[in-house]
Amino acid sequence: MSRDPIARTRPRSADVDADRLWRRHLEMARLGATPKGGVNRPALGEKDIEAHALLATWARQRGFGLAIDDIGNMFVRRPGTADDAAPVVSGSHSDTQPTGGRFDGIFGVLAAFEALEAIDEAGIETRRPLEATIWNNEEGSRFVPGTMGSGVYAGRLVLADTLAAVDREGITVADAVAALKRGIPDADVRALGAPITAFVEAHIEQGPVLEDAGEVIGVVTGIQGSRKFHIEVIGEEAHAGTTARRHRKDAFVEAVAMVNALHEIFHDAEDLARFTIGQFEILPGARAVVPGRVKFSIDFRHPEISVLDDLGDKVEPACRSRARACEVTIDELPRSAPVAFSGLVPDAIEAAARLRGYPGRRIFSGALHDAGNLARQFPAGMVFVPCERGLSHNEAENAKPSDLAAGAQVIADVLVDLANRD
Ligand code: GLV
Ligand code: MN
Ligand code: MN
Repeated sequence: MSRDPIARTRPRSADVDADRLWRRHLEMARLGATPKGGVNRPALGEKDIEAHALLATWARQRGFGLAIDDIGNMFVRRPGTADDAAPVVSGSHSDTQPTGGRFDGIFGVLAAFEALEAIDEAGIETRRPLEATIWNNEEGSRFVPGTMGSGVYAGRLVLADTLAAVDREGITVADAVAALKRGIPDADVRALGAPITAFVEAHIEQGPVLEDAGEVIGVVTGIQGSRKFHIEVIGEEAHAGTTARRHRKDAFVEAVAMVNALHEIFHDAEDLARFTIGQFEILPGARAVVPGRVKFSIDFRHPEISVLDDLGDKVEPACRSRARACEVTIDELPRSAPVAFSGLVPDAIEAAARLRGYPGRRIFSGALHDAGNLARQFPAGMVFVPCERGLSHNEAENAKPSDLAAGAQVIADVLVDLANRD
C-alpha cells in the first residue's frame, strides 16, 4: 500500500495530456478564426458544423459512439460496463459570439473529450457510460434564445417553438439542425431528455477572481438569473429637410429617452445589477430620413430572484411612459432563474481538486452556462479555470495551457468517480 495518504485515497483515474489538449484548442480556433486572433463561429453555421465534424473524427478514431438529438446537441460516448445505465456527461458549447475568443465554450468540450481519451488510454473501466457533449447554440447570437440545446434537453424550452426560431437570414433552427445531421451522417439518434446521472461542465472563469488570487480551480456554486427583452419603437419615416419637429414621430429620439430612463432604473448602489443594451438598430438607417423604427435588446442579470422580478418588471412601464408620438412593443424571452449547484457534483469537484493539490475556491458565475439548464433536471456542477485579465466575449480572450489541463484533469477525475459510485 502506498505510504502517500493522498495516493491511498485517490480514486483510480487517468492523467490528461496537456499538450494534446492545447493542440486541439489551436485546431478548433482555426475554424472561424478572425484576423485579430479570436473566433467567429455562429451556432450550426458552416464553421461550427466543421467543429462538430472535427470532434466526430477524433471520436471515431478512438472507437467512441456518436449521437445527435432533435435540437442538434451532439454526444460522444464511451460505453460503461453497465451500458444501459444513465451516463455521466461533461461538455459545453462550440459556438461563439461574433467577436468571440478561443476558449469560451470549446474548452469545456475539449476538456470533456480529453478526459474520455485519457480514461480510455489508461484502460479504466467505468460502470456508467461517459459522454462528452456539444450543446447547441449556447451564445444565442445566431438564434434566440441562447443556451438553446441544453434548454430543450432539460425541458425549459419547447422543442417545436425552438426549431421554428429563425436567424437574420430567415434560416430556421430546424434547417440548421438538418445541416448538422447531413454533416455527420453516421451519428445515431439520441433521445431528448434521456436521463443523465450527473453533468459537469468546465469553462474559463470569464472574470478575474482566480487569476488575481493565483488559484487554478473554481468550484462553481451557482449562476445568476437573467431576463432578456426585445424592444421595438415604431414611429414614422419622414423627410429630414421638410418635417417640422412637431410633426415628427422620431423613433430614435423616443428610444434614447427610454434607454436613458432604463439606465437610471438599473443603476444600483451595490453595482450588482448587470444591465446591457448590446443591440441598437435604427431603421431605415438613412441620413435624410427621420427614423421610423428602432429595435434594441435588453440583457439584465442579477443573483437574486426578487430583484430580477422587481427591476425587470420596470422595463415595460419605463418604455411605455417614454413613448409619446411613437408606439412601442416589448417582448420578453424565456427567463432564467438563478441556479444553485450543491451536493454531489460540486462536492466531487472539490474533492478531485484537493486530491490533485490544485489551489482553488468556491465561486459564483455571472455568465450563463448550459449547466444551469441541466441542473434543473439532473445533479450538475461546473469547474472554472482562470483566464487572462478575466477577459471574455473578446477576441483577445486567453488562458494558460497548464490551467486548461488542470480543469480537464478535474473533469476526468470527477467522471471516473461519479461513473463508478453505487
Ligand atoms: C453566455 O455566454 C452568456 O452569459 O450570455
Ligand atoms: Mn460559454
Ligand atoms: Mn459566451
